Amino acid sequence: MDTKIYVTYNDIHRAVKRLAGEVTASSFDPDVIVAIGSGGFIPARILKTFINRPIFAVGISYYGIDNKPTGSPQKIQWIDEVQQKLSGKKILLIDEVDDTRVTLSYCLEELISHEPDEIAVLVIHNKQKQKGASFPREIKRYFAAFDVEDRWIKYPWDAQDISEHDVYTKQSVTQAEKEVQ
Ligand code: G4P
Ligand code: MG
Repeated sequence: MDTKIYVTYNDIHRAVKRLAGEVTASSFDPDVIVAIGSGGFIPARILKTFINRPIFAVGISYYGIDNKPTGSPQKIQWIDEVQQKLSGKKILLIDEVDDTRVTLSYCLEELISHEPDEIAVLVIHNKQKQKGASFPREIKRYFAAFDVEDRWIKYPWDAQDISEHDVYTKQSVTQAEKEVQ
């Protein structure tokens, strides 16, 4: 049995709705959403349905524009306007997965350097594992829809064949049910 975790668009939509409710209940009222591309883009758009704020996109990669590995995260897209508009603002940073935490932490440090009022982090999946970086101490709020084992997550937007992806999703759910029994 494939041990990957298959996730559907509907799973993501429901998870984002639930998290948006948690954000609102915590009385964190963001001024802007910052999405880390590319995995954070679709969750960010769904979030906007529930928390209607402007979305800024940032791109962080371990690969330079020439596609050579760099060994540490690098900005490949960082809109100048973002920097000017962050000072004194409440930011909700969104990505699809908190894996090693290295990219998230790098991004948070960069955002903090622009002196926002507060930053909260929102992810769909948090992998329970030894993290390669810690969040800066300024981060007080963290919202994760699912704590998962350290397994590879198959997101619907990566599927070459979404029908096949749906079949695997059903199989992995059936398998998970069997494991519980
Ligand atoms: P983190 O700070 O968010 O934990 O990110 P980390 O540097 O550890 O992640 C490196 C890349 O690996 C990220 O993609 C992240 O989305 C991707 N990744 C980690 N675990 C999984 C997983 O289980 N499934 C999938 N599909 N991706 C995973 P990236 O380089 O930012 O690219 P993109 O795919 O978001 O465009
Ligand atoms: Mg990503």
